[in-house]
Amino acid sequence: MAPAFTKENNRNIMSEEKAWSYAMVLSVGSALPMVLKTVIELDVLEIIKQAGPGAQLSLVEIMAELPTQNPQAPTMLDRLLQILASYSILTPSVQTLPDGRVERLYGLTPVCKFLTKDQDGHSLATQTLLCLDKDNTEAWYHLKDAILEGGIPYDKSYGMSIFEHYAGDCKLSKLFSNAMVDMSTMVMKKILANYKGVTHIGRDMFVSVPKVDAIFIKSVFHNWDDEHCTKFMKNCYTALPDHGNVIACELFIPTIPETNDVARMAYHYDILMMVACNARERTQLEFEALGKAAGFEGSRVGCSSYDFKVMEFLKKN
Ligand SMILES: C[S@@+](CC[C@H](N)C(=O)[O-])C[C@H]1O[C@@H](n2cnc3c(N)ncnc32)[C@H](O)[C@@H]1O
Repeated sequence: MAPAFTKENNRNIMSEEKAWSYAMVLSVGSALPMVLKTVIELDVLEIIKQAGPGAQLSLVEIMAELPTQNPQAPTMLDRLLQILASYSILTPSVQTLPDGRVERLYGLTPVCKFLTKDQDGHSLATQTLLCLDKDNTEAWYHLKDAILEGGIPYDKSYGMSIFEHYAGDCKLSKLFSNAMVDMSTMVMKKILANYKGVTHIGRDMFVSVPKVDAIFIKSVFHNWDDEHCTKFMKNCYTALPDHGNVIACELFIPTIPETNDVARMAYHYDILMMVACNARERTQLEFEALGKAAGFEGSRVGCSSYDFKVMEFLKKN
């Protein structure tokens, strides 16, 4: 049967030349995240930011802040910054030098607001460093075997779960906690304006949950399969009074694949969770089903912050 002629299908029609270029970009696409990681490690985005709003810096100006005498470094860095400009991470400009040579300058685009530190020192740079850490990427090399033979890619790499591995590895545990603190602090600022008085209580949620009126839980469902989620949700149900609720903050994946950045971000996380711990991101309907399976009578979607949705599970309607 011919596919329905929808706006979405129409968008997927591409000329052969465009399709070739796109396929080429995809096939060498590992360069972009590694370049971003390197530029973050070199602190280049922070250097440009420190020059003030709208600043365009030359390689000479950027290199003056870097601890190197390597004569190749400016050319190498220029090439890294070019690819970032091609993805609208940097804004490029050119100026002609007295000797006639043309020099490139680079400034920050709006996305850098989140890749550089905010007034409290938080940014998504730490998440980039976590995701691309050499020891953390090892699990990706086991994804194919996990699909064909079963098992969890991360566990196949290290013979233990991701949380057990992080607990025994200072470097990874620091990278993980920096990334969580940074990203969650940025997201939570907006959400906590709606939910006052949230405090942290450490506990193994699979054993028991403290007796409170409401339980706030962020980015935890996505670490577990449905069976484990139902288990800790049942413990939440037991801990709550009749008027109590679980307030979950998670990403939603669309039921039908979409091509926008919000959907792509959720799909990226979904695969990250598959590789890390055989877990997943979920659709709103899947969240509702999890709540019902644990005994919650109702659910509703509340506010959202930077694409994270807040879903309330009501013990009684
Ligand atoms: C993806 S992180 C999210 C952390 C934090 N809620 C945030 O959004 O930044 C998942 C968290 O679940 C915690 N966790 C794993 N197993 C747990 C358990 N059995 N009981 C309670 N927390 C657990 C991990 O230590 C980790 O901090």
